[in-house]
Amino acid sequence: MKFSRRKFLRYSLAAGGIVVGTGFYVRQIEPHWVAYEQQSLSIPNLPDELVGKKLVQFSDLHIGRRVSDKYLENQFEYVNSLKPEFVVYTGDFIDQGNLGHHDKLKNLAPQFARGTLGTAGVLGNHDYQRHTTNIDIALKVANTLNDAGIQILFNETQTIAGITFAGLEDFWSPRFQVGASRNVIQSLPPCSVVLSHNPDTADLPIWNGYQSWVLCGHTHGGQCRAPGFRPPFLPVRNKNYVSGIYQLPDGFQMYINRGLGHKMKVRFCARPEVTVFTLSKLGSRVAK
Ligand SMILES: [Fe+2]
Repeated sequence: MKFSRRKFLRYSLAAGGIVVGTGFYVRQIEPHWVAYEQQSLSIPNLPDELVGKKLVQFSDLHIGRRVSDKYLENQFEYVNSLKPEFVVYTGDFIDQGNLGHHDKLKNLAPQFARGTLGTAGVLGNHDYQRHTTNIDIALKVANTLNDAGIQILFNETQTIAGITFAGLEDFWSPRFQVGASRNVIQSLPPCSVVLSHNPDTADLPIWNGYQSWVLCGHTHGGQCRAPGFRPPFLPVRNKNYVSGIYQLPDGFQMYINRGLGHKMKVRFCARPEVTVFTLSKLGSRVAK
């Protein structure tokens, strides 16, 4: 089949339009098109008075040069208007562990969304620095958040209104230790929620019959993926861990939030996410 010059121009223009339109969507639309995912969170031994209450998860804010403060403020304002009982943050508050990004966090922290009963969080690899070694910056980030009423948990637990929240150290941080993580999990009562930035922790020998949930982030859902295909880049050992709910062989469940911010400002088929969980009661855990 022979193309006339006119046909060739028409097809070229159409192809160019698709490329420009896709580029605009990937850079200007999807990175700020937040999906408020509604999920159920069934927790063993949940106190009756917490059934039906809300827990909101934020992850991977990446405060810094590439994510608009206004965009984040709008999501915090909206979530605060929902008056959730619990809010949790699963790491990567800042984009790079440097003082400029920490200063931005300091300005924004008072506006963060908070739970009416309590708020907790863990740090992610970017809170240390790109290569996850800067403990001084990580501690500054944690102090700033603690001062703003967001309790950062370093292999620690905090019980809020009957739910024990446990926060694991970031898997890539120099402070991560399998033994310390196992000790935290071992100490948990049935009515617990674990916060762990990196979902690879689900595959470690630390869970000891844990039966509730671990909430994670880190993957950004791959940020860009072709529909129906696994994302080409995932910063995890276990490439099955992309986003959403996972039932683990040990008997616990994991939720991976796609994150609200971004590293590079591009997203495709991986919309930014805020997760709104409704709490329900799972049957009591059988003692081992
Ligand atoms: Fe991240």
